[in-house]
Amino acid sequence: MTAQLISIKSRSNNIDYNKLPQHIAIIMDGNGRWAKQQGLPRIEGHRQGAKTLKKILRTCKNWGIKTLTVYAFSTENWGRPLTEVNFLMNLFERLLRKQLQEMQQEGVCIKFLGDLSPLPLSLQQAIRHSMAMTQNNQGINFNVAINYGGRDEIVKACRNIAEKVARQELSTEIINADLISQHLYTTNNPDPDLLIRTSGEMRLSNFLLWQMAYTEIYVTDTFWPDFDTKQLEKAIVNYQKRDRRFGTIK
Ligand code: FPP
Repeated sequence: MTAQLISIKSRSNNIDYNKLPQHIAIIMDGNGRWAKQQGLPRIEGHRQGAKTLKKILRTCKNWGIKTLTVYAFSTENWGRPLTEVNFLMNLFERLLRKQLQEMQQEGVCIKFLGDLSPLPLSLQQAIRHSMAMTQNNQGINFNVAINYGGRDEIVKACRNIAEKVARQELSTEIINADLISQHLYTTNNPDPDLLIRTSGEMRLSNFLLWQMAYTEIYVTDTFWPDFDTKQLEKAIVNYQKRDRRFGTIK
């Protein structure tokens, strides 16, 4: 069966494919609580969470979502026990190396958002390699936020713009929202249409603060490792019922 047939076959009947969110962002929360509920160590939650992510990425691609952005590690997550931080860094690297070929075959274009300089060097190398290998793929844009903080991103953009002004490459009059967007990690990506947060918390947790000005938010109590295609479908159907006015009236 061709890849296209498989993707049409796996489509949902409840989704309106003419009104798909182009860009979905996900806060994959609840790995630790899922593990605790199962009587397992926290790291097992992350391991299971990675399996969930693989399935959700594939489904998004098959359903025609153009961009998926996930929050894998925040600037605040360094405050976790060293064993958990090390486990996560190893998991990211292992997955990147192991899944690269499959991502390549499926047309995934992978990018990373965040300050990558404090990450282990071998992980940085795997990141650079995966981005270079997949940069021309057109199946789905997959952004992974690692050592990412929304405020940090805005500070960096301001600094970058100020330096350009100081060097007289830019004049202050042309600073506007579009120019700031172009100086963020997500430059060239449309803003997310839909944010999904698992495990019930009703906050943004410093994720894509600038980009989510008009994003529709969907929160589910399900822990990330239990999030599946059915739940994704529910989130998209819910999104499709929303009246997006972007501050205007109809
Ligand atoms: C939040 O749950 C989850 C994380 C901080 C890690 C997310 C990482 C993965 C799912 C692996 C993905 C892999 C790649 C390559 C992107 P939590 O630990 O805060 O859960 P809790 O709130 O229940 O403690």
